[in-house]
Amino acid sequence: MIEAPEPTPPADRGDSLSAALTGRRSVRAFSNAPVPRSVVERAILAAGWAPSPHNSQPWRFVVIESAARRRALADAMATDWERQLRFDGQDEATVQIRLQKGKERLTQPPVVVVACLYLADLDDYPDAGRQEAEVTMAIQSLGSAVQNLLLSVYASGFDAGWMCAPLFCPDIVRQSLGLDPTLIPHAMIPIGKAARDPVRKPRRPLEELIADWQ
Ligand SMILES: Cc1cc2nc3c(=O)[nH]c(=O)nc-3n(C[C@H](O)[C@H](O)[C@H](O)COP(=O)(O)O)c2cc1C
Repeated sequence: MIEAPEPTPPADRGDSLSAALTGRRSVRAFSNAPVPRSVVERAILAAGWAPSPHNSQPWRFVVIESAARRRALADAMATDWERQLRFDGQDEATVQIRLQKGKERLTQPPVVVVACLYLADLDDYPDAGRQEAEVTMAIQSLGSAVQNLLLSVYASGFDAGWMCAPLFCPDIVRQSLGLDPTLIPHAMIPIGKAARDPVRKPRRPLEELIADWQ
């Protein structure tokens, strides 16, 4: 039985697929080190190599480098998030701390990429069941595109995270960034250099991962 890899920092980055797969971590705090444009472009190209149903490539990426844009987006999203936190019955101090941290996650990293679902090139089916499956496949493939992006960023010597917040307020994100209505924001990916070594979360061993082998 192959043991689950130890959650320790890898010796290298990107020298091998395995190093990238096991070394990448979700980073939530960034230094102010700049990110070269080429790193972002390479990562988006890597995302584009992900598999997708009949190669529909149902993804588009929006790069937000402007600090003013990121601040405006953070403010717009915070308004909606505040409403949700109050609805959940969170106390005032918790609401304020969470809003502040949420804003920092967009304003601290030098670049944020918004991964959007793009459904215009999907196949059309006459029945709802198959159409729904087509959309599910598109969402699955967007996930694989984001993973490619994260691995590429990591292999380039930078770090990234994954924020699902746009899923809960796609219209606000679209409006704040002036996006085309065909783009459905699904994830925000902050990119930069980790402010500190990120937490390395352990993974399940192989015998737990394989539910059955017949
Ligand atoms: C679909 C998806 C949504 C996620 N959303 C968030 C998020 O909103 N905020 C966050 O801090 N991490 C988010 N993550 C990152 C996970 O928390 C992280 O991948 C997991 O804890 C494992 O840690 P690792 O990526 O460092 O190995 C998300 C990951 C996925 C795949």
